[in-house]
Amino acid sequence: MAVPSALPSTRWLLDNCPCSRCLHPITRERTITLIDQRDVQPLAVTTDDVGTVTVDWGDGHVGVFPGSMLVSRQDLDIAPALLGAVPRIAHPDLDTMQGMDRWLSAMLTTGAAIVEQTPNERGEVVRLAVRIGYARPTNFGTIFDVESKPDPNNSAYTAAGLDLHTDLPNWANPPDFQLLHTLANEATGGDSMLADGIAVAKGLRASDPAAFEVLATTPVPFRFHDAADDIRHSAPIVEVDADGQPVAIRFNNWIRDVDPLADERFYDAYLAMWRMLRGPANVLTLRLSAGDTLCFDNRRMLHGRTEFDPQSGRRHLQGCYVDRDMVESRLRRLAFG
Ligand code: OGA
Ligand code: ZN
Repeated sequence: MAVPSALPSTRWLLDNCPCSRCLHPITRERTITLIDQRDVQPLAVTTDDVGTVTVDWGDGHVGVFPGSMLVSRQDLDIAPALLGAVPRIAHPDLDTMQGMDRWLSAMLTTGAAIVEQTPNERGEVVRLAVRIGYARPTNFGTIFDVESKPDPNNSAYTAAGLDLHTDLPNWANPPDFQLLHTLANEATGGDSMLADGIAVAKGLRASDPAAFEVLATTPVPFRFHDAADDIRHSAPIVEVDADGQPVAIRFNNWIRDVDPLADERFYDAYLAMWRMLRGPANVLTLRLSAGDTLCFDNRRMLHGRTEFDPQSGRRHLQGCYVDRDMVESRLRRLAFG
């Protein structure tokens, strides 16, 4: 754990004091009300060499802040782009705490993981999701079959290549993680692609700040509609946090809606990002085999596949989504036992 470079303010320390007077010892919920504190100043603040900060408030309560509470926003920056390999975990290892830890940690930090040897049975992808928490339903159901279908309502349900994209940017709250279980991948073509959209957005900010600015501020309309639904949302391609750091990507060319306001600045910026996304250094290609479940952060990683020939062999994936809250929660519960 990094020793924090600067101490937070007195107000922050008071608001977050973990002593049993400020934090309920059983519920672990905050009992201190900052607005009712007047002129409280620490009597003494000490930092040890592993970054634990101890604050003596001078009135009988002492807060001991582990370094993990004090990491700065810069320290929390996400891991760098994929370095050429997606971590792999064998399905039977998920019965151990270490296996679960490796799986969930890879999803959260690397942004992707492959669970190998997933049993070759329909519905298995939801059983995998249930190990984390709940599968999140969408207009495509709780579980969806990705295969070439006669009357498709979605490009994924054809044999066409799918350029790099994120799923469901047409929702105000797109699903955070996607799990794609390979039941069969015997057709010619149908290789998978992944790219770290946040790393690419950071690259774009460095090389073309004006384009980055356009993509972070211009709402783009996305729309899915079929016989049952018409789901629309407009939001910038790059979502930034309060510090201007990219934190999520919406990118899906086939459900980008007609935008009467799209101007030349937008097209220049959109194409600049797309060009970077196509850069070989930014794209990881892999081939899924039966039993592989590709699990990835749908707000960060773009995914895609090459065209396949449905006459040449069977290709059938089953997918579902999981919310980040549940992934993080499960990982924390593993740590606490
Ligand atoms: C999808 C998708 C990829 C694939 O269903 O959203 O992108 O490999 N599928 O078929
Ligand atoms: Zn997709």
